[in-house]
Amino acid sequence: MTPKVTLNIDGENISAARGSSVLDAALEHGTCIPHLCRVPYISSIGACRLCIVEHVVNGWSKVTTSCTLLVQEGMVILSNTDKIIKLRRNIAELLVAEAPNSRAIQDIAVRCGVKEVRYPFRNSDCILCGRCVQSCSGRFGVKAIGFVGRGKDRRVESPFGVRSELCRQCGWCTDVCPMSMVPCDGPMRHGEERLCGKCEPKMSFAEKTTGFCVSCDLGEGFQCERNYKNF
Ligand code: FES
Repeated sequence: MTPKVTLNIDGENISAARGSSVLDAALEHGTCIPHLCRVPYISSIGACRLCIVEHVVNGWSKVTTSCTLLVQEGMVILSNTDKIIKLRRNIAELLVAEAPNSRAIQDIAVRCGVKEVRYPFRNSDCILCGRCVQSCSGRFGVKAIGFVGRGKDRRVESPFGVRSELCRQCGWCTDVCPMSMVPCDGPMRHGEERLCGKCEPKMSFAEKTTGFCVSCDLGEGFQCERNYKNF
């Protein structure tokens, strides 16, 4: 049997398997922490920073990504403080600005309370979340794609820019990509920066209804499964 530890998330003591991440422990318990780059059952790289929480130690708190933080006995986590809500909303807003027509990102942004986007839109094809890279290496143990370059030149590519012979053409990299899912209504152009709004009614209903899960409809790997397990 997997050894367990007890930690406290948002005032509630929960039990989690030793070696699991705080994010997985929270989702397993039914605490919905927004996340994007995490791929279930694969170790996380902490790229999107959406899953930030406050880790409280000796009265001091540190903001950290919950997908890369392993559970420890007695640890105290706050996932929904004013500070976290504000920081997370800003991160979500930046993600929307990067890829405004990704429905997955828009849904997550609305869930994070984004009402408007203050940053210029970039319409990128890739937000460097690394879900494709993690899936390729973590799920199948091959490295047909990876990150190359630094700073603004950072991108995902196959070695030397040619299709790797390691690639099995399984399509998993595309399946997990938030950019390849059904796009939001758009396109949103400069001066028309807004969320398409389709997910907003669900959110406002959720805000008024205790315990209602918005069931994000974000495709495999994005859902917290809160609605299946706890309701
Ligand atoms: S889900 Fe944790 S940093 Fe992206």
